[in-house]
Parts: sequence; C-alpha cells; structure tokens
Amino acid sequence: MQQIADRMEQIPFSSIRTIFERVHRLECEGTSIIHLEIGRPDFDTPEHIKRAGYRAIDDGHVHYTSNYGILPLRQAIAHKLAYDNHLDFDPKTEIIVTAGVSEGIMMTMLALLNPGDEVLIPEPVLPCYVMAAQMAGAVPIIVPVHAHNGYQPALVDLVSKLSVKTKMLVVNTPGNPSGVVLHESTLRYLANFSINNNLLVMADEIYEKLIYDDRQHISIASLPGMRPRTITLNGFSKSYAMTGWRLGYVAADAHLIQALVRIHQYSVVCANSFAQWGGIAALEGPQTCVQTMVAELNRRRLLMTSYLQDIPGLTYQHPQGAMYVYANVSGLSQSAYQLADDLLEQAHIAVVPWDQQHIRIAYGNSYENLKEALDRIGHFFAADLVC
Ligand SMILES: Cc1ncc(COP(=O)(O)O)c(C=O)c1O
Repeated sequence: MQQIADRMEQIPFSSIRTIFERVHRLECEGTSIIHLEIGRPDFDTPEHIKRAGYRAIDDGHVHYTSNYGILPLRQAIAHKLAYDNHLDFDPKTEIIVTAGVSEGIMMTMLALLNPGDEVLIPEPVLPCYVMAAQMAGAVPIIVPVHAHNGYQPALVDLVSKLSVKTKMLVVNTPGNPSGVVLHESTLRYLANFSINNNLLVMADEIYEKLIYDDRQHISIASLPGMRPRTITLNGFSKSYAMTGWRLGYVAADAHLIQALVRIHQYSVVCANSFAQWGGIAALEGPQTCVQTMVAELNRRRLLMTSYLQDIPGLTYQHPQGAMYVYANVSGLSQSAYQLADDLLEQAHIAVVPWDQQHIRIAYGNSYENLKEALDRIGHFFAADLVC
C-alpha cells in the first residue's frame, strides 16, 4: 500500500463526521433520525439571493473570476464591514472572497504561520482551527475556557500559555460550540494582550448575525490598535442560510491579504463565480430574511433551554448567539460519547459528543422536530436508560 503523508497522523476525522456516518447508516436501514448535530440553519436560501445566482448563470458568469473575487462583491463586503463593524477596508487590496470561512481559516494559518509558531486557541472550539494550525506545521496551544467564567477566556489562562513562539490568537464570537458572545470587556483585554505580545488575531465572526437578547457583536479589529494585526473572517453560510454555496471572505491589511491570496490562487483559484453574485444580493438586498430567521432560531433556543433545564445531571451554558446548546453531561453516569451513542441508537436523535463531558445540540431544525426530539429525550431519560 502507498504511504500517506506523515502529517496526516495528526489529522483525525472529526467526531461530527463520525456521527454523520452512523446517522447515514441508520437512515439507510430505514430509521428516521432527528438531526440535532448539524451546524447549519435548516432554512432555504432567501429567494432574492437564489434568483441572483440563477441570473448570474443565465448572464454567463460561469468562468474564473479574479483571485480576490469580483469587485462588486468586494465593494459590498467593504460597505458591510464599514456599516456593521466600523471597519474600513479597501475593496481592491484588503478583501478576498473565499470558498467559505473554512477556506479562510486554512489560508490564514498556511500563509501567516511558520513551522513551530504557536497559536493560542481558547477551547471549547471548532476542531478545524487546531487542524489548520497543524497542517501549517504550527503548534496549536489549547487554552481551556471555563463554564464558571461564562466561557469568557480568562487573561490569566492566556498568559500562562504564552511563550516566545506565540504568534497568533484565535477569537471566535459568537462561539461554536459554546454559543457565547464575548463581552466588550473581554475583547478589550484580548486586544491589549495581543498588542502587548505582538500577536496576530484570527477573528472568526461567522455567527455575527445569529445573536439574541439585544446583545451586540463587536469586531475585535475595530478596537484601538487592532486593525493592522487582525484577520477578520466572515461568510454567508449561517446569516443567509447559504452553507452549500461555499462563500465567505477575509478582510485584513493589504500585505497580509497579499500572502493569503497566494495560497488561494494555487488551491481554490477563486470562489464560485455565480455564488459571488448571490453574495451581492445577500448583502445589498433586504435584511428582513435574516431577522425572520434569527427570530425563529430564538424561539427554538427558548424551547430547547426551557426543556433541557429540567433534565437532572445535565447543565448548559445559556446560548447567547450561534445555534447550539453546549451541555455538560458529567452529572450522568456515562461519558458524552456513550450518551450520544445511546441517544442515536435508542431515541434516534443525533447530537455531537464534543468531548468526554459535553455534547453539542444544534437547534437548526424545525420547531416541530425539536419538540418531537425533546419528547424523545424526555422518554429516554425517564426510562432510566441513563442511571
Ligand atoms: C465557527 C465556525 N467557523 C467557520 C465555519 C465554516 O463555515 P463555512 O461554511 O463558511 O466554511 C463554521 C461552520 O460550522 C463554524 O461554526
């Protein structure tokens, strides 16, 4: 058998993928599963965005675009960043349109990290930051973030992980899986910490619009001194229910973007041409579709949390943004992995075991399905399958 690259030793399949495979197997056998594992809104892409995509195909926008993306989309992104985030970026030199935020994460790490550089990653966190750092030959340094601190990273924990090799800090707000929105005060000390230690900051703001209870999203790049050292990542997957369109963007200083675009030109080349026209419609069209989706997600969030609070042995971080309940199940007698297995096999509910003690429950499913799922979870626990 031919050998694969040594670096793949460090790149496991994610637990999300493992669950997907098992769900797929059960569904092929005819079992109906309620999906609470998928990190995507179940809504359709709004009609005006789909029409812009169809029109772009009809109009012949079916070829390679500039590596940076089409200029009208970069201009729309620059306008959005100025209006929503108080950030001023030159659409000609400081924005790249990407194949989703996932690509933005990978190219940021590949373009800006040297082998051996250390990246501070507050955890719980999406595994792709860790994997991208490893693929870049860098060293992910996990900084545990605690429930008793409301999952706001503590300065003392960051300082304890600092070394002469630290080059980058990852900031994800609103957070996946925690659902936490970082406070302005947290962002200010993260900013000062980065400035004092001359760190780059990779800010993943993909859940910016999925935010509840009148909380405000603040872009760390907008804080004093942060614009030159921050790489801001955002996209269309979550805000506009466009996960399959594979569209996102990176905004940063021109000399950083110059490095990133070289990775992009030799890998993806450009984001999908007609999807980019859909992106313009998303940003420039009516935003009521976002408000409607967030209102519905909020209704589901309240349903989930009101129900889950009564399950003994399970505690959770009250979600403030994104679309997940991050639940600690260490009060139960089995591990989160076993619980996720049992929920799938016995109650036909798919959730993600995040680690030994936590599961992530996504509420990007219909209100009716969530009610049914909660009923099944209730029966599952009442039947004392978990003792
Ligand atoms: C925090 C976070 N960043 C990035 C991504 C990837 O998004 P995209 O679809 O834009 O690649 C996800 C997807 O779930 C996510 O949760």
